[in-house]
Amino acid sequence: MSEIAIIGGTGLTSLASLEIVRREMVQTPYGEPSGPLTHGILCNREVVFLARHGYGHTIPPHQVNYRANLWALKSIGVEKVIAIAAVGGIRADLIPGRLVFPDQIIDYTWSRYNTFFEDGSDGVTHIDFTWPYCDELRQQLIQAAARVNLDAAGKATYAATQGPRLETAAEIDRLERDGCDIVGMTGMPEAALARELELCYAACAVVANMAAGRGDGKITLEEIEQNLVKGMGKVGRLLEEAMPTV
Ligand code: HPA
Repeated sequence: MSEIAIIGGTGLTSLASLEIVRREMVQTPYGEPSGPLTHGILCNREVVFLARHGYGHTIPPHQVNYRANLWALKSIGVEKVIAIAAVGGIRADLIPGRLVFPDQIIDYTWSRYNTFFEDGSDGVTHIDFTWPYCDELRQQLIQAAARVNLDAAGKATYAATQGPRLETAAEIDRLERDGCDIVGMTGMPEAALARELELCYAACAVVANMAAGRGDGKITLEEIEQNLVKGMGKVGRLLEEAMPTV
């Protein structure tokens, strides 16, 4: 089986059921990844774990070194990546604690290093990004969720916003008009960089809150944290079920 990596997001800086074997610091032409790569065993499957925001959750979304993270994983032979990410729910059924496997992205981020083909020295490279996620891996995750009766949505358009602030209610109205169902700050350029490196990349989003103007009142950090604890428990079950099949 090919090497698989899990990139953990907010609320998932470690995996409880991962038996850690060793940690590896990797240098890349793009600088340092968010932390050492953690090699371990999850349900009899060798996996590599990386905390996107650092193990102490100190790196905000707009400062994550996405290029170093993906490059480091590719350089050690990873072929598949499962990205875990907290999101706000825009569509009414995408309520806090629910898992979502997005199938589309709209990118609203700016000023991030978003390509490995920066200077044109490899020719001008336009990757195909019609379907931004690896559908085989998405389907495997959707099926694993169904087998363990996890309430998950199998189709959603992810809006990647710049952050680190949350959105205004009007911005969420606009994202909804654009066709977005969930909103998060880390989905891009991560997915595009993974495609440039020909990694099979799929995301499991965890709804942490209703997006701005969709719930009642302000969005609080306490609410986000509580929902993420619930949601990340589900992610743990999902990964344990999915590992033998991915
Ligand atoms: N907006 C953007 N990113 C997020 C949100 C949100 O409401 N919740 C968790 N990550």
